[in-house]
Amino acid sequence: MRIRVFSDADRLAEAAAGEIAAWIRLEIPVPSIGLAGGTTPRGAYERLRSHRLPWRRVQAWLTDERAVPPGHIASNTGMVRRTLFDHVPATFHPVPWSENAAEAAAAYETDLAGFLPRAARGLQPGLVVLGLGEDGHTASLFPGTSALEETRRGFVANWVPQLDAWRLTATLPLLTSARRAVFLATGRHKASIVAEVLSGDSDLPAARVSRESRDAVWLLDREAASRLDT
Ligand code: 6PG
Repeated sequence: MRIRVFSDADRLAEAAAGEIAAWIRLEIPVPSIGLAGGTTPRGAYERLRSHRLPWRRVQAWLTDERAVPPGHIASNTGMVRRTLFDHVPATFHPVPWSENAAEAAAAYETDLAGFLPRAARGLQPGLVVLGLGEDGHTASLFPGTSALEETRRGFVANWVPQLDAWRLTATLPLLTSARRAVFLATGRHKASIVAEVLSGDSDLPAARVSRESRDAVWLLDREAASRLDT
């Protein structure tokens, strides 16, 4: 696991775009990128637009989605389309919408199986980009929620009592099968959870994904890294 610290969120966004672009070039002929929602990655997605890449070969998906109809302001699909996929000719796979979250998750897993390579343990994503919540969640794997117990399926519906809402999320088996995981965190408000998750003895969801990943790299700005033992 590697940690890279940057002076501010803009420099981190540039570096994150560089990590994703380098992966796309590395994983040719069929690179896949699984993208986080939320706010932290937006700057990186916007900066990716100016990278000259073989976008038509790129398969892109979401590591989680809110259970909201297309067009809803909270939709991660809307955010990644506005910041990136409305501007580059990649193949982006949105999470399907259904009133029944479990049906949507099952349909998405079938979609993922149509383009992600399959290894012995199941689907094997290329690069996944992940954020970090202040409670230690990543994707929509929130502490204490049932999706954390999933050992077989790659994408599930997850009831999140903390939000009183359904989420749709990649599971630990799918995220930890990725060939590379890039975590992004910025801001002083993330400093203590970053220190806890990277302490080495945390069982929070983000810590489990990072620890069990084949190749995890954390991109932090100086504020988010400010509680790490140097
Ligand atoms: C989502 C994300 C989620 C996010 C964290 C951090 O759907 O919101 O996938 O896991 O990465 O909540 O969110 P911020 O980047 O907004 O701090």
